[in-house]
Order: sequence, then structure tokens, then C-alpha cells
Amino acid sequence: MEPQDGREQWGNRAGFMLATLASAVGLGNIWRFSYVAGENGGAAFLLAYVLCVVAIGLPAMLAELALGARARADVVEAFAPPGVSRAWRGAGALAAFASFAILSYYSVVAGWACRYFAGYLDGSLARLPRDDLAGNFAAFLASPAEPLVWHFIFMAATGAVVAAGVRRGIELAARVLMPLLAVLVLMLAGYALSLGGAAKAFAFLLVPDWSRLADPGLYLAALGQVFFSLGIGMGVLVTYGSYLGHGERLPGAAVTIAVGDTLFALVAGMAIFPAVFAFGLDPAQGPALAFETLPQVFVQMPGGHWFAVAFFFLLVAAALTSAVSLLEVPVAYAMRRSGRGRLTVTVPIALAAALAGIPAALGAGVWRDVRLLGRPPLEAMDHIAADLLLPVVAIALLGFVGWALPRREVVAAAGLRSAGLARSWFGAVRYLAPVAIALMLAATALASQ
Ligand code: TRP
Repeated sequence: MEPQDGREQWGNRAGFMLATLASAVGLGNIWRFSYVAGENGGAAFLLAYVLCVVAIGLPAMLAELALGARARADVVEAFAPPGVSRAWRGAGALAAFASFAILSYYSVVAGWACRYFAGYLDGSLARLPRDDLAGNFAAFLASPAEPLVWHFIFMAATGAVVAAGVRRGIELAARVLMPLLAVLVLMLAGYALSLGGAAKAFAFLLVPDWSRLADPGLYLAALGQVFFSLGIGMGVLVTYGSYLGHGERLPGAAVTIAVGDTLFALVAGMAIFPAVFAFGLDPAQGPALAFETLPQVFVQMPGGHWFAVAFFFLLVAAALTSAVSLLEVPVAYAMRRSGRGRLTVTVPIALAAALAGIPAALGAGVWRDVRLLGRPPLEAMDHIAADLLLPVVAIALLGFVGWALPRREVVAAAGLRSAGLARSWFGAVRYLAPVAIALMLAATALASQ
């Protein structure tokens, strides 16, 4: 049943959980996790990652969900309850903007995945000799049209899902794709582990090089990855939480999603690293790991062609349900603000995000000499959005929930029954999480000087 004010709602709790998990599981778990873990020594990174999930990710997630469930409104309105300074709205607007900004370049990388999926499906990529693979990726990026076309196709698909609505678009896509993704990633990991690189991969991911833990950059990388992967700090969880009925148990949902998202990244790592080690390649390849290194693995492994088809399907589908969540944030805001229908606001917003992504799409190729803040456009946008906007919005959100709203209401909205848990959670929201994030911001600022 729709509530009387006509706001959309999830079909049921499972639908909400799947949609939220689908927002969390995306390029971040497969493409970003594998290369960041690869660059940061594997197991030591994983340890720092799990620590950050428990101490900062989980409390922040619950705060975001509670804010949405309490306000039953888009992210801007959620920051504007009666009796609270209107200045907080700025934080909501920043969240909606940041969501839009991430979407614009996220779709570019997802477009690369679409291109690779299509290339393996029609066999053209599978026929390339090993030595041509890296050059092929570079040539694709350098083409004036190809990355743009795939970026626009992916954005159109994202817009179509969002335009179909909360229940018949976002929730349905998650219901269909999430179980499929879970099966697929398990099968890929099982197959990869049979290739002979399993022992090395386990050692890489599970036996830490303790000296790495002394590097502050490790924790920064871990915290950034936690935010990105759990999808915290953009108002996605506020928006998704706002489509809940009354009386949902949020703590259980937050724990399930955090655990599910982390397991997904781990299993994806088990699909990627054994294959990389079995063929003697280097896991510390950076962002090109999924697009340059893995295809070299695919040509050498038995059945590699089909492994590649499954892998890039996984990447595209996971990216789609995440991009959908990013688009939903500004769409929900614009619908309320303008009073117009879903389709009417989705089309221009998706189009604007596609246009905003053009520099990122061309920046690795024809606009290769363009620099924003001294970096190529895609890296610059990822840096501004993930390393700056994400933590800033997260601090504002935690500050709002921890300090601006009445404590009793917030704790009730979060639904923590035990007084002890409620106290530790509130302490994390007020002090631990914002301070840790602020330190991360400061360290990032110092490091980029
Ligand atoms: N979590 C997604 C991923 O891992 C990306 C994503 C979706 C996201 N919604 C978000 C990132 C909100 C930051 C904020 O790919």
C-alpha cells in the first residue's frame, strides 16, 4: 500500500534489503576493491578495511538509514525538520550534488565494462593475442566516440530503471540481479581457485605483512574504500531508508548489508587474485587491473572466454544497480521540489549527468592532455567526489544526526533496543566517526600538498 501522501515505498523488507545491498555492491567491490587491495598489500589492507567497517562504516550507515526512515523525505528535506537551522539544508543539497557527480564518472567506467562484455560476447576480444590486450584497452580509450557511446548507453539504462519507479524499477532490478550476481561470483571464485594460484591468493589476502600497518596511507585508503563500497555519505541510504514503512529494524539491516558487501568484495577477490597469481601477473596494477591484467589471464586460462563473459556481465550488472541508487538521490529531490512526475525529472537529470561525464569519458583518450587540479579528468573527479565530498557530507550527516536532532528521537529511529548498544552507537556518531573522518581528510590534504 502507498502511504497517503503518495510517497513510494518498498514492496517489503526483503525488497529494501536487496535494493540497498545492490547499491552497495558495485564497481567498488570488484574493480576498485581489487586494485586498491592489490596496491596496498592485500591482507594488511583487508584488516584495516574490516576495522573501518566496524568502527566507522556501520555506525555511519545506521545514522544515514535512521535519518531517512525518520524523515521519510529526500535528502534535502531530511536535513530540514522544523526547529533546526536552515543552514543544514546546504548539507542535503551537497549530498544530492555529490551523488550526481559520482554518477557522472561512475557511468564512464561502467561503460568500459559494457564494452568489454560486448567484446567478449561477440568473441572479438577473445581472439586478440595476449600482447595486444593492453594496447587494445588504450586504443579503446583513445577513440573519440567509443567510450562516450558506451557511457551514454549505460546512463540510459540507469535512467530507465529509475524512471520505472522505486518498486517496479529499483527493487525489481535488485531482486532479479542480486541473486544472479551472488551465484556468478561464487562460481567464478570456485573456478579461479582451481587454477593453481589459490595458495598464493590466500596468502596475499589473509596473511598480513605487519610492517604495512605502520603506513598511515593504508588506513586512508581503507576508509575511503569503506565509504565508497558501502555507499555512505551521498544520501543514498537516507533516500532508500525513506521508502521504508514504519517500524523496520534498521540495525539488523545495516549489519547484514555491511557483512554482505564485504563478503562480496572478498569473494570477488577470490575470483581475481588466484587467476592473476596463477599466470604470474602483478596484482598491484592500479585501476587497469580489471581491464588490462584480467584479459591477459582470460586468454591463458581454459574456458577463459566464458569466464570473461561472466565476469564482465557481473561488473555491468553490479554497476547498474549502484548507479541507479546514485541517480535516485537527485531524482527524489527534484520530484518533490518540482512536483513533477518521475519520468519528467529523470530524463533531464540523467542527461545532465551523462554530459557532465564527458570529460571523464574522453580524458583518457582525445582529451588526454586536459588536466583538472593537475590530474586527468576521471581521476580528478574521483578524487574530488570520493576523497573530498564523500567525507565532508558524511561529517555533516553525522553532525546533524548526533548534534542537531534530539538524541531520544534519533536513538528511537535507529531502533537499538539495548541501552548499552545505543550509547556506543551514539558515541560513535557524535565523536569517533566524525573525528576519524576528519583525520582522514586532513591527512589527504597534507599528502596532496
Ligand atoms: N557502493 C557502490 C560501489 O561499490 C557505489 C555507490 C553506490 C556509492 N552508491 C553510493 C558510492 C553512494 C558512494 C556513495 O560501487
